[in-house]
Amino acid sequence: MNAVGAASSGLLIDSHGRVLRDLRVSITDRCNFRCLYCLPETEEAADFYRNRFVPPTKDSAGSTPIQREWKPESKILTYEEIARVVRIFAELGIRKLRLTGGEPLLRREVEKLVGLVSAVPGIDDLALTTNGFLFGKKAQALKAAGLKRISFSMDSLDPENFKRMTGRAGLDEVLAGIRLAQEIGLNPVKVNAVVIRGLNDHEIEALAEFARQHDLSFRFIEFMPLDSKRSWQRDLVVPSREILQRLQARFQLVPVVSDNKSETARRWRFADGRGEIGLIAPVSEPFCGHCNRIRLTADGQIRTCLFSLHEHDLRIRLRSGESDEAVKDFIREVVGHKEDRHHIGEPEFVQPERTMSCIGG
Ligand code: 5AD
Ligand code: SF4
Repeated sequence: MNAVGAASSGLLIDSHGRVLRDLRVSITDRCNFRCLYCLPETEEAADFYRNRFVPPTKDSAGSTPIQREWKPESKILTYEEIARVVRIFAELGIRKLRLTGGEPLLRREVEKLVGLVSAVPGIDDLALTTNGFLFGKKAQALKAAGLKRISFSMDSLDPENFKRMTGRAGLDEVLAGIRLAQEIGLNPVKVNAVVIRGLNDHEIEALAEFARQHDLSFRFIEFMPLDSKRSWQRDLVVPSREILQRLQARFQLVPVVSDNKSETARRWRFADGRGEIGLIAPVSEPFCGHCNRIRLTADGQIRTCLFSLHEHDLRIRLRSGESDEAVKDFIREVVGHKEDRHHIGEPEFVQPERTMSCIGG
């Protein structure tokens, strides 16, 4: 469908001709992990970026806690509100829904929400992003409620390094969660690693080997400037091209061809086995031109880009009794302002106030 056709059919189409199909909803801003690149626990942990990586000492986690303010429960959308928003978005052409956080499994009875949104007509792809720590407790209930796909975050296969990166000694739980997701038939099971130079880039080959052995879709993500302490530096980003070269030196990789232009990952499968790797390069090779995504924060703010500096208050509209039609008009107007691209690396780039834990990946 061309842009004009899409607009007249009531779909969400932005001023650059992109038809939005993918909604990501953060359902809580809280998290049980403290990833260095997102919600570092201490000033010392956050400072790793500025000071370069200092080899771990006994107390390298540091002792100066960063005070965080979570959104009060009254501002967090209820399951009924989220389900209504999802239905409205589906009526506007959204087909893919991803539930994220923070850590979405921290929300009480999250399976109830999964049940509500999986029943929304039009949502034909429902996924969830989790750090995996609590997945064992929730797996069966989530599957029964209609969850089809899942993405785990796992940056390291070395327990020490895992703890250094996430602030928690949780590698075993995450590995067990990944295994369980495969056993109960969630498909595909994706695993994401954020790669940071000097921290986990020495594990790239081992992570890929893990994907091959366990038939996983393993995605390497470039570190983006979304960390709460604003310490991101360009030279800590390991460009996807470099990751690919290293993996090609080690494995025989065959490109996976896809005609889905809005896909963020460029994918390769192993010539001699199962599993695949994906490279996500938002910094070195931005894919904004084909972005079909829109985001909703846990407190009901619409974001048209990960790097938006402005949010659009949907919560106030939901709570002031506006009709579905009025809400749709508001969403259409907001979509009209979707940014054409991000400006990472350019002098005028300004990092957004919120971190990934609020925005939802
Ligand atoms: N850069 C890149 N990816 C990030 N994530 C969180 N913060 C960042 C960042 N600063 C990832 C998480 C998770 C996904 C939702 O986003 O690791 O896999
Ligand atoms: Fe939690 Fe995910 Fe942020 Fe890590 S990246 S602190 S798991 S929200």
